[in-house]
Amino acid sequence: MKTLHVELGDRRYPIHIGPGLLGHAELLRPHIAGRQALVVSNTTVAPLYLEPVRAALDGLRHEAVILPDGEQYKTLETLNTVFTALLNHRFDRHCTVIALGGGVIGDLAGLAAACYQRGVPFIQIPTTLLAQVDSSVGGKTAVNHPLGKNMIGAFYQPQCVLADTDTLATLPDRELSAGLAEVIKYGLIRDLPFLEWLERHLEALLARDATALSEAIERSCRNKAEIVAADERETGERALLNLGHTFGHAIETGVGYGEWLHGEAVAAGTVMAADLSARLGWLSQECVERVYALLTRARLPLKPPPTLTSGDFLRLMAVDKKIKDGQLRLILLRALGQGVIACDVDARQLHETLDHALTHP
Ligand code: NAD
Ligand code: GLY
Repeated sequence: MKTLHVELGDRRYPIHIGPGLLGHAELLRPHIAGRQALVVSNTTVAPLYLEPVRAALDGLRHEAVILPDGEQYKTLETLNTVFTALLNHRFDRHCTVIALGGGVIGDLAGLAAACYQRGVPFIQIPTTLLAQVDSSVGGKTAVNHPLGKNMIGAFYQPQCVLADTDTLATLPDRELSAGLAEVIKYGLIRDLPFLEWLERHLEALLARDATALSEAIERSCRNKAEIVAADERETGERALLNLGHTFGHAIETGVGYGEWLHGEAVAAGTVMAADLSARLGWLSQECVERVYALLTRARLPLKPPPTLTSGDFLRLMAVDKKIKDGQLRLILLRALGQGVIACDVDARQLHETLDHALTHP
C-alpha cells in the first residue's frame, strides 16, 4: 500500500492506494469519530463491494442507501434521497457519510455530507479508475443541473480516501478508458515525465497490469494532491485540472447526461484544446499528433458527437464555472506538460477549432 497526503493544514488527509484495502477496518475506523455511518452506493457497486465495507464498520451503527446508477441521477432529487435516508435513520451531526462508488457517487455523497446539518464528516472509497485518480481527491462535490454540469456544489474535503485497486478488476473496459482520459490530463498539464511514462505503458494499463495501474494512480494522485494543496478553491492553478472540460461539459450537457461518459467527453475536449493551442502557435503539429495518438491508444473518442453544432457548443460553453466577468477562460497547452489558463482566446480561432472538430472525419 502507498499513502500520500493532501496537505491542507489541520484538514490534511491521507490517500491510501493499494490492493485489498476494502476489508481493512484499521484504515477506515480512525477517520470515523462518531458512532453512526451511512454508506452511499449504487445498484451496480453495492452488490460487488458493500459487504466488506459493512464488515469494516462492525460495531458502529451503519446503514446504506443504494441509489440508481448513472450520471443522469446526479441530481438534486437523488441528493434529497440521501438526506431522507439520513433523517429516517435519525443520524445526527456526528455521523459519517461514506461514498462507495465512482465519481457520480463520490460527488453526490460529498455534497450530501457538506449540507447535512451544515456538514458532517465524509470518507471517499472510489471504485472507478477515474474516481481513484481524480474525483475522490480534492473536495469538489456537486450535482448537475439540466442547464449545466456540476453547477450545484461545494468544496468539501473528505477525512480520507481509500482507493482499493482490486475493485478495478470488475470495471468495464469503456470505464477504464474513460479514467485514462483524466490520467493523461496530468501528464499534459504539468508532468511531461509522466506523459512519457504513459506513452510507454498505455498497453499495460489497458491490460490492467497491477503494477502499472498502481503507479498511474499514485502519480495522478500526487499531481492532484499538490495542486489542491496549493489552490484548494481554484483561484489559480487548480483550473488547469479542467483541460478539455469546458468543451467536454458542453458535450455531456448537449447530448444528455449519461450518453457520453465524462472521461470520453474530456478526451474529445482535450483534442479540441490541443487543436486550439496549435492554432495559437503554442503547440507544434508533432505534439498535437502525440496527444491524438495517446488518446487513440487509450480507446477514447477524438471527435465530439456529430449531432452538436458550433452554436450548441458556444451556447453550452457560456455556462462554465471558469467564466469571469462574462469572459470565457479555456485551459490550453503552451507545450506538452505545460497547461495554461487562456483568457482572451481569439473568437475566430475558437470557431475554427469547433468547425474542424465538427466537420472533419
Ligand atoms: P460513474 O461514477 O458513473 O461510474 C462509472 C460506472 O462504473 C457506473 O456505472 C458505476 O456504477 C460503475 N462502477 C463503479 N465502480 C465499479 C466497479 N469497481 N466495478 C464495476 N462497475 C463499477 O463515473 P466515473 O467516471 O467514476 O465519474 C464520473 C463523474 O465524476 C462525473 O459526474 C464527473 O463530473 C465527476 N468528476 C468529479 C471530479 C471532482 O473533482 N469531484 C473530477 C472528475 C470527475
Ligand atoms: N477535476 C477538477 C478539479 O478537481 O479541480
